[in-house]
Amino acid sequence: MVYDFLRKDFEDGIVDKLEESLSLPASRAIIFDENKISKETLKSLFPLLIDHPYLKNALIDTNQNYQLGKTLLHEIGAYYVMDSSAMLVAYFLEAKDDDFILDMCAAPGGKTIALSLLNPNAYIVSNDISKSRLLETIKNIERMGLSNICLTLNDLTNFELDTLTFDKIILDAPCSGSGMFRKEKKMEEDFNLEKIKALLPIQEKLLEKAYSLLKPGGELIYSTCSFTYEENEGQIISFLNKHEDMKPVEIDNSPYFYHHKDLPFGLHVFYHRFPGEGHFIVKLRKNGSCETNKKVNIIEHVSSERIFLTNEKFLSLGKDFYILRPGILKANKVSKTWKLEHHYAKTKNDLVKIEIDEKNAKNYIYGLNIKIDEDMDGYVVLTYKNIPIGLSKISSHNAKNLYPKGLRKKIN
Ligand SMILES: C[S@@+](CC[C@H](N)C(=O)[O-])C[C@H]1O[C@@H](n2cnc3c(N)ncnc32)[C@H](O)[C@@H]1O
Repeated sequence: MVYDFLRKDFEDGIVDKLEESLSLPASRAIIFDENKISKETLKSLFPLLIDHPYLKNALIDTNQNYQLGKTLLHEIGAYYVMDSSAMLVAYFLEAKDDDFILDMCAAPGGKTIALSLLNPNAYIVSNDISKSRLLETIKNIERMGLSNICLTLNDLTNFELDTLTFDKIILDAPCSGSGMFRKEKKMEEDFNLEKIKALLPIQEKLLEKAYSLLKPGGELIYSTCSFTYEENEGQIISFLNKHEDMKPVEIDNSPYFYHHKDLPFGLHVFYHRFPGEGHFIVKLRKNGSCETNKKVNIIEHVSSERIFLTNEKFLSLGKDFYILRPGILKANKVSKTWKLEHHYAKTKNDLVKIEIDEKNAKNYIYGLNIKIDEDMDGYVVLTYKNIPIGLSKISSHNAKNLYPKGLRKKIN
């Protein structure tokens, strides 16, 4: 049905090609942490993966040859599985060190994670309206061992705040999801025009909020995983008509992408041109100039019997935003004693490390205690291929399992 609906806005040839490629299997991709694993290692383990055309730390599994989300390396955060087109949003944002960035609709965290891997020295505020989805985001951020992210829980359509502003914003808006039909057949069954009509005012309000939260000279990427003109070109053209100080910016003119004549700088990722699922991406710049931000100092912040490693900038958000997690969770008070947390073990380099083999790593993630050769007692971080897995307390060659209970699983 969506394809008939698209014919009123796109040339027939394009829509026919989209419809044809719908029967091909959906692709999948990984973005990896270059400090933990190299492209060569990943390619030797998964030889059918191909290079991402844009990101040097990403590989694409065009035919879903591998179960990339079920490996030990995935579990310990060597890479994150996401769509190859979704990661383009973080790439095209072109953030730099010390940028203060807002990801307005961030859960479960794909674009935030890509952004953090590409820009470990930027400050990222990842917001969502859904607490359960943000709790998933926290798990993903901890698994990947990321440290420059503050998570906030707010409905940004209904939010009075215009004092604090960001250098860059990603608005990955809630949408009809028509670009994801190859991946999720259910979305195709659920697609209807009423759904689009209900989403348009939400997208519009979120765009208005993005405008008021963006610094002069700042840049906003609006993206959806939908093909429809109404949610993409239509929404942005009407936004630009209201805000003369916002201008579209050209991000790419390669044949990988389709540009609609009404908004030539917007780009559609169509699966017959690019090895990824459907997406729409447009970048807009606000007139004016941004001053370069100063580096901020990491501070310890104690709140509700928990210690966080954070910074003044993240904490200052607390005036207006509801902060769920202001940075790295370092420790938790249990029966009057501070206990180190998993997030700290995954991100910080100052604890003693003990390398274990694949079998032991799998056993540890399953929740078992393991035997080690080292003659020592006390807290350590267990690693596999030098990648932190989690905390353990060693006593008499026995490594006690401290892997969080909610994360334990069997890996074959
Ligand atoms: C397309 S998904 C985001 C996917 C995410 N950017 C990623 O890369 O993993 C849209 C998100 O918008 C959130 N959302 C919907 N309405 C919102 C609102 N009013 N304020 C903030 N977030 C909202 C939803 O909970 C959902 O997680």
